[in-house]
Formats: sequence, structure tokens, C-alpha cells
Amino acid sequence: MRVFHDIESLRQHLAVERRGRRVAFVPTMGALHRGHGACVAIARDVPDALVAASIFVNPAQFAPGEDFQKYPRTLDADMEHLRRWSCEVLFAPAPEVMYPERQRVWVEAGDLSEPLDGRFRPGHFRGVATVVAKLFHIVRPDVAVFGQKDAQQALIIRALVRQLALDIELRLARTVREADGLAVSSRNAYLAAPERLQAAALFAALDAARRALESGERNARRIEAAAIDVLRGAGIERIDYAELRSAHDLSALDAAKGRVILAIAAHVGTTRLIDNMVFDVRDGGVHTDVTLY
Ligand code: PAJ
Repeated sequence: MRVFHDIESLRQHLAVERRGRRVAFVPTMGALHRGHGACVAIARDVPDALVAASIFVNPAQFAPGEDFQKYPRTLDADMEHLRRWSCEVLFAPAPEVMYPERQRVWVEAGDLSEPLDGRFRPGHFRGVATVVAKLFHIVRPDVAVFGQKDAQQALIIRALVRQLALDIELRLARTVREADGLAVSSRNAYLAAPERLQAAALFAALDAARRALESGERNARRIEAAAIDVLRGAGIERIDYAELRSAHDLSALDAAKGRVILAIAAHVGTTRLIDNMVFDVRDGGVHTDVTLY
């Protein structure tokens, strides 16, 4: 695997290596785990792909008071994982490379970034959309892979690609989970042992919503309440949201119909976790755990 820390040498390398091949790109913030591995596996599935990844803990997407300073940085272990996953190219820039001057030009995603995490993480999604736009211009991928775990992010990236007419095919990885359902996340490393047990309630809450839908419940508030009951029952008190919304554009819903997403953010101890599940609700029944796009 070739590792690049600056834009120019990465560009030169890709210009030579890409000829005839499709560049399949997985942006990450490092602290790599099986969830990232699933994204790289999807990139590898692109026929004749040149698989590239990036590791950059993007300061612009952390709000003041969030975990930017303590976010795990494990570059050596990450490079081992990427080699094992047959990644060929890694771009791992320093902050000065990505932000050589005060950023004035931002990518905003409008109403897609207002609900859910947007309400609780001011500036987060413009930080994400801006850094991903930069990475896309640097790497010029043909295919880019994102995880459904960060569903709002995935919808915003889709809007970025469509509305700025980028010639990039997006593919999504299903959420990789631990045995008890907890979505694998770099932030799970923050959880103390009792909190790790409590954290399983996020998936249990999604599962309760699924059961409600499968038993015919269509009232969005009652489906949300089924999820919230499970979180509270597990002793999780600080719930930022547990909301059922349209999986097309995150608009608010009173009734579950068509493709819908139940998205949850909750604090377990001092760690903030997110998770979601997408359903396709039809007259004939409910398809569970479907893909966002
Ligand atoms: P990061 O949290 O490192 O995630 C990188 C990619 O891995 C994202 O597309 C994310 O959705 C995916 N991912 C994380 N956990 C996953 C899981 N359990 N199953 C499947 N996929 C999973 O998301 C970011 O970084 C940043 O916001 C980034 C897009 C790199 C911009 O800075």
C-alpha cells in the first residue's frame, strides 16, 4: 500500500496508476474497525478497482466541546488493517494540508442538515460536506463508499454528488454490528464495561420499532415511543432524538408509509452514540432493514 500525506504526490500517483481502472474510494477518520472494512470490501468489489482510502480527523466537523482532541488516532494499526483489506492507496493528510488557510468556501446541505444530528451538532454537516467535496476533488474517485450507519451523512453526500453534478457513483455499506446488535463505531472505545452493556439498548430500541411496524402500527409517534421506552428501560436518560422520518429526504412524518428511517442518538455515560434502521412500509407488509439507497 502506498501512503501519501500531500495532495500533489497523491495526484501524480493516481494519474499514473488509474489508467483504465476505476478508483474506488473510502473516506474515513481512522480508528478503523469492521464497519470500515465493510466499506473497503464494497470498494474492492468494483471490477478492476484501484482501492483508495483516506484517514483524516476533520476538525471542521467537530463542534466546540466535542471529542476532536480525544478522537482515537491509531495510524499504525489502521495501515495494518488497510493492507489486510487490500487497499492500494492511503491518503493521510495533516490538518494544514486540508486547511492551508481559513476556510471561507463551504458546502451546505440545506434542510437535509437541519433535523436529527444537525440540531445537536451545529456546523457538523457543513464540515462533513466540505471535507468530502475536497477529498473528492483531490482523489477524483469513480466510486465512493459510505456506511448506512451515518444515514443523514449518506443522504447529504448523495445530494452533494447530484446537485454539484459530480461524476461519482455512490455505494452504501450496511451497518456492521456486534453480536448484541450494537453498531460498530470508533466511539465504542470510549465505553466502560457497564456502559458497553447499556449501549446495546440502541439496537434493541430499533428492534422494538421494527416489531411495532410488523404488528401493524403506523403512527409515527407510537413507533418512536416504542423505541424510547426501550432506551429508558435500559437506564439511558439523555436521548437527543428517536425519530421516524422519510428515508428520501428526512422530512417529518405522522404515519409510516413508503421508505422510512428510525434514527436514534443517545448518550451512554459521556459517549454519544447514533444508530438507525430503514424500513419499507407497504400495504402488503413491512420490509425491515432495507438499504437507504
Ligand atoms: P468515519 O466515522 O471514520 O466513517 C467512515 C465511513 O465508515 C463512513 O461512511 C461510515 O458511515 C462508515 N461506517 C462507520 N461505522 C460503520 C459500521 N458499523 N458499519 C458500516 N459502515 C460504517 O464518517 C466519517 O468517518 C466522516 O464523517 C467522513 C465521511 C470521513 C468525513 O470526514
